[in-house]
This record gives sequence, structure tokens and C-alpha cells, in this order.
Amino acid sequence: MALINENYLKLKAGYLFPEIARRVKAFTEANPDAAKRLIRCGIGDVTEALPEAVRYAMHEAVDEMGKRESFHGYGPEQGYDFLRQAIAKNDFQARGLNIEADEIFVSDGSKCDTGNILDIFGSGNKIAITDPVYPVYVDTNVMNGNTGDADENGAYGGLVYLKCTPENNFVADIPKEKVDLVYLCYPNNPTGAVATRAQLEAWVKYCLANDTTLLYDAAYEAFIRDPELPRSIYEIEGARECAIEFRSFSKNGGFTGVRCAFVVIPKTLMGRKKDGSKHPLHPLWSRRHSTKFNGASYIVQRGAEALYTDEGKAQVKELIEHYMGNAALLVEACKKAGLPVYGGVNAPYVWVGCPSGLSSWQMFDKMLNEANVVITPGSGFGSAGEGWFRISAFNSRANVEEVCRRIAALK
Ligand code: MLT
Repeated sequence: MALINENYLKLKAGYLFPEIARRVKAFTEANPDAAKRLIRCGIGDVTEALPEAVRYAMHEAVDEMGKRESFHGYGPEQGYDFLRQAIAKNDFQARGLNIEADEIFVSDGSKCDTGNILDIFGSGNKIAITDPVYPVYVDTNVMNGNTGDADENGAYGGLVYLKCTPENNFVADIPKEKVDLVYLCYPNNPTGAVATRAQLEAWVKYCLANDTTLLYDAAYEAFIRDPELPRSIYEIEGARECAIEFRSFSKNGGFTGVRCAFVVIPKTLMGRKKDGSKHPLHPLWSRRHSTKFNGASYIVQRGAEALYTDEGKAQVKELIEHYMGNAALLVEACKKAGLPVYGGVNAPYVWVGCPSGLSSWQMFDKMLNEANVVITPGSGFGSAGEGWFRISAFNSRANVEEVCRRIAALK
């Protein structure tokens, strides 16, 4: 019998979203009538149709694949040049940011990227995460053996937890101690908080001063509407020397079911060897990609490229406006219900305080049983999320309006 990776045994029972799905399934089986009016605002999964520009581009790509002369087999592992160029030009260079196409690595999703990135880091790093946090950052560190066991609050030994609370507007304070790796996500999942330019400048300054690598998850950058707020970490001077950025087409282009994302690793970004000497991270990730990944599909990459055409950009804008319109309605409904509300302004998540005395899972049950609405319990994102819940704005307008009515009717 082969030895197993016992780090997996340290993980809490289930990944948050499958756990919610399990509870919802039990509820729908026990209450078939209520199940018919169930509205899902739990997992942040897009609901609206794929943009037309993407569909046309993908159809065309399928037709190309149907002819021997234009058929595509394995593509470049790091992504087709046409997509890397489109990303570099539109997302970075057009905004005055110095990122080259060959610093972009196309993949099939940010969940995989934020987990897989640990492959290129050694063991023994001091790692900081926010609390609450997107659970993937924590669980993948547990799987990799970068943590001790979980305590009674679910906090893993060895990790530095940066508490995000109303006091700091849910934006992590700079730690007093030196860490080697830090994960930040803005606009934030789950709290919907956004970091200001000054806050990100302070983070980059800290990272440069402490040789810290910043893993910056910007999967929700398209939802930033305030022009003063940075959409990429590379808008901050010095970030090329300390930060990796994760980006995704899931939420802006409606690609959760299509699968395409990318990682930016500047060639100037260094890690350190045991002997203290520096080594660039870019060739390590490139090598990892070539060995463990055969590239996102040609058809999907042609679809992603279409998001950067004029039609594609206009259609993305419409999608964002739709979801942010939903977020505004949810924010208003929760405020009217007298609940503390954060997020939902530059992010598609609304972060809401539970009515007094209720825990996050009690609120989950109340919403499920009394309103037949699925939300995400804040405690599932970490102990600092206890007493909060998250509502996802990814839904149809009609469903969101109905959710608002049901929130108003809650006793
Ligand atoms: C969420 O609900 O937090 C997201 O859907 C998770 C993800 O994007 O993987």
C-alpha cells in the first residue's frame, strides 16, 4: 500500500461550497415544494449568457478545428501568442503598465493557479493570509504541508492570519512581523472590500522591504467602478519586483463554465535559494506549466481573445453593469432590513452582518428555511467571518428582486 499525503487529513471536513451544496440537497429532498422557489446566491457563479462576441469566435474556432489545414493539436503550454498579446496590450500596456506578453501565462482557471503556484515555492516559508479568506489559499497550503494542525477555531498552526473586520474596512493591515509570502485579493472575495492606492502602496513597500512575495488575486478587478482605485497591482510602483497577479475571465466574461484565466509573473520578480542567492520565479513557473499543463484549449483561448474586441468589451461592460445593478439592490435591501452591509459597490459580493445573536450557519439555515435563499456563511471563510454572511450578486435581475422582497419579509 502506498503512503498517503497525510496533510489532507488536517483539512476541515469539506470544501465550503460542496458543504453548502450538501446541505441544500438535504433541504430540497426534505422540502420539495420549497425547493421549487429556491434562489441560489451562495457560490459566486455567473448566470448570464456568454457574450455574443465570444460565441462567434468560438464557433469560428470550432470550424477551423474541423478542417485539416487549420486544425490545432497541442498548443503552447503558456498560451497562444494571440491571447497573450491581447492581454498584455489591453489589460496592461493600454493602461500604461509595463507587462509584456511573455510575462503572461494562460491557464484554465484562477482556482488552479492560486493553488498550483505553491509548486514553485519551497517549504518553510512564513505565509500570511487574510481572515476571512478565499478558502483555496488556505487549503492548498495545508495540502502542501505548509501548516500545522487546525485549532478549535479552524485556524492552522504556522499561518499568519490578518484579521479583516469593520475596524479596518476589511482591508488587511500590514503585519508587524516579516512573512515570506502573502495572499491578498482585491476586490475581495468574500467581503467585497477594495484596497485603495495608498493601502496597496503600503503593501508593496512592506513586500520590498521584507523580501516578501505578494500573491495578488485580482479576479474581480473588472467590477471596480471607482476610477481612483487600482485594478492591477502593477499600477503600484515596485510591484514588478514583488508581486504575482492572478486574473480570470470567469466573472467578467462569464467563463466559469468555459474555463480560462492567466497569471502574470514579471521577469524581474525573484525568489531566494537556500544559500541566500536570488533566482527568478518566471522560468520556474514556465517550466512547471510545460511539465504539468498542456495549455488551455484553442477554442477557449479564441473565445477569451474576443473579449478584447470592441464588441467584446461592450458586452463585458453590459454584464458587469447587470451584476453590479443586482449588487446595489441587495445592498439596499439589507440596509433597509437594518443589517450592517459592506461590499457590493466595487465588487459583486455583498457582505452582511447577521441579525444579532445569530451565527453565520444559523443565518444560512434561516435564509434557507424561511426565505428559501442560499447564501454563504461568513464563518466558512475563516473565524473572523463568524457573524457575517455573503450574498452573491451573480443572478438574474428577477431573482435578485425576489431575494430583496424575501429579505424584507424576514422575521
Ligand atoms: C466563490 O463563490 O467564492 C467563487 O465562486 C469561488 C471561485 O471563484 O472559485
